[in-house]
Amino acid sequence: MSLKINKIINGPIPDSFLFDETKRLDSLKFDGQNLEVLDQLLLPHEFKYIPILNVSDAFDVIKSMQVRGAPLIAVVGSLGLLLELQKMSELNSDEIRKKIEFLISSRPTAVDLRNSLTGIFPILEKEGDSDGVKLEKCREYLLEVYTSEKLQNRILVWNAYQELLAAFPNKNKLTVMTICNTGSLATVSWGTALGVIRALHSENRLELAYVLETRPYNQGIRLTATELIHGDVPFKLITDSMAAWAMKNHQVNCVLVGADNVARNGDTANKIGTYMLAVLAKHHNINFYPVVPFTTINKNIATGAAIKIEERPSGELLRVNGVLVGHEQCPVWNPAFDVTPAELITKILTDFGNWSPRLLEEQIPK
Ligand code: MRU
Repeated sequence: MSLKINKIINGPIPDSFLFDETKRLDSLKFDGQNLEVLDQLLLPHEFKYIPILNVSDAFDVIKSMQVRGAPLIAVVGSLGLLLELQKMSELNSDEIRKKIEFLISSRPTAVDLRNSLTGIFPILEKEGDSDGVKLEKCREYLLEVYTSEKLQNRILVWNAYQELLAAFPNKNKLTVMTICNTGSLATVSWGTALGVIRALHSENRLELAYVLETRPYNQGIRLTATELIHGDVPFKLITDSMAAWAMKNHQVNCVLVGADNVARNGDTANKIGTYMLAVLAKHHNINFYPVVPFTTINKNIATGAAIKIEERPSGELLRVNGVLVGHEQCPVWNPAFDVTPAELITKILTDFGNWSPRLLEEQIPK
């Protein structure tokens, strides 16, 4: 891809741009053979890791949202597939394709899951390679999905941090707002939007983060708040319905969010409620930034209209921690994501430069 933009903004990244690893929660443990994932449904009250042995285990934890967040599900799906491939007596392409489609069906909106898994097709289809050679190449590729997330994340956070310094030259400290969980619990690194909030804090440039509770799954209150308490980052939790009032009264400088799928024109799918924040940000003249790995930019789709939005069961809305709070027969619509139109986005911040939606549309090859 030939793009007229530097990958690292104001690089090289100084060695001092590092965070304290003891302040990071581990979303998974992997020693090259054994995989365990943190059961995020138990947080913040219990920290329990669940073993993943194969594709079926990976599907279950992703579908149930014990593991969630676009970068993390791509890694868990890839490592689950690797563990499965290692146990197969022969690498049957059709069988593997079915397993991959099954895994993708667990969370259909996130493009990284699909891209990471389907990336092994060219390896499987290479004529002349023995099963042993194919398995080794698949292993290298799938392990790289895991290792590259961490490497790319440092560049992503640095680029986004630089963008914020440039956008607010007269502000010593920023007040930001975020939704859902985009931190170490959504990745195997420091996180995207939450990684940037961490960076602002560790560089002494964060005044306060407003964290939306994020109904119906409560990733804000259960996960982001837990991460920020663990990291000693100053924040306040608000309900989703308080966002407009917080923007009006508390001098929020920018909104930082993650993304599950970004179209070529910059339309961005992210956790339900993100579109609402973008509309509110426009009204209050507040900058709005998705912070995303470049791999989340989906060059196969022109606009957000083509993004499949996952709809989840009604029980997730009617129950809180298993306790029924509404009538069991209450009719429910429960979309897990929404699409923020490009015109509401200030810039999309990535590990491959920072892009106005217009620049993105001009330069992303079809
Ligand atoms: O339903 P979830 O919890 O998987 O939704 C997560 C989000 O919407 C995140 O913002 C997105 O995956 C990016 S995570 C770095």
